Amino acid sequence: MKNIAVIGSGTMGNGIAHVCAQSGYSVSLIDISEKALEKALATITSNLDRMIAKGTITAEVKSSTLANIKTFTQLKEGVKNADLAIEAASENEQIKTSIFKELDSACKPECILATNTSSISITKIAAATQRPDKVIGMHFMNPVPVMKLIEVIRGYKTSDAVNNTIFEISKKLNKIPVEVNDYPGFIANRILMPMINEAIYSLYEGVAGVAEIDTVMKLGMAHPMGPLQLADFIGLDVCLAILNVMHDGFGNPKYAPCPLLVNMVTAGNLGKKSGIGFYDYSNAGNKELIVASSFKK
Ligand SMILES: NC(=O)c1ccc[n+]([C@@H]2O[C@H](COP(=O)([O-])OP(=O)(O)OC[C@H]3O[C@@H](n4cnc5c(N)ncnc54)[C@H](O)[C@@H]3O)[C@@H](O)[C@H]2O)c1
Repeated sequence: MKNIAVIGSGTMGNGIAHVCAQSGYSVSLIDISEKALEKALATITSNLDRMIAKGTITAEVKSSTLANIKTFTQLKEGVKNADLAIEAASENEQIKTSIFKELDSACKPECILATNTSSISITKIAAATQRPDKVIGMHFMNPVPVMKLIEVIRGYKTSDAVNNTIFEISKKLNKIPVEVNDYPGFIANRILMPMINEAIYSLYEGVAGVAEIDTVMKLGMAHPMGPLQLADFIGLDVCLAILNVMHDGFGNPKYAPCPLLVNMVTAGNLGKKSGIGFYDYSNAGNKELIVASSFKK
């Protein structure tokens, strides 16, 4: 395996491209948006600069990592030599099944097709292809260059050989793979999202304010980040999409997204990536966490 294609260059795609390129793979980073590709390269560059400043990598590693990444807006062009394609496009079933149909016809027959989906059924995505044995979930955590875990999700027809190959590659990326089965939310989000949703319900019902909810969980439970700040970092649209998949998949009202989350996403307050969520990120240089004005008491 030498060539990895990453489809989608947003929050996750740029991180996945970064770690693959830093591990020596030749990476094609693909997005329908030229702007998203430019932003991704700028993010990777500034993350590499931060690593140099911390002394964790050398300037040579930065230049070899950047040299290993090529960007494309045409999927067919970007995936033609890929041994592994990792899809990290928007969390939307229709988008993903249409990308997988395209990947199936454009990639080499032996190419493994992985998805970074947070919640959508791997079995359903695999069914859009003629190679369901070679489709697998490779769920990286955010921020990808920092977080060690890859949740490896086996679809109903994923072969043992493909599962083993993905375990090997994950280790080469200096990550720790964990195998889970294909049910809505898998493990990470099945447990995380109800907590985030409950934090949003607590805010919605006026039990406590944004900073207070996050402080209780940071100081009381030793979480490195409160659930509302974490939701902002994940993207509130992504959180809503995952909750909807779990709600539909299990038919259990305990996964119903809080109306406040629905309203915020509808209004375009998506968290850090849009500049505002539970906190206000509009002043990028400000390191202090500022509660968004609509939640100030
Ligand atoms: N944000 C997180 O913390 C997180 C964590 C783990 C997994 N995920 C999953 O990773 C995936 C990506 O999430 P994200 O947060 O990076 O989203 P994002 O909104 O930041 O980026 C998605 C990117 O996909 C691109 N895109 C959309 N349709 C495309 C297509 N047809 N072809 C190519 N590119 C396309 C968009 O232009 C955008 O740049 C989702 O499945 C999400 O559930 C997200």
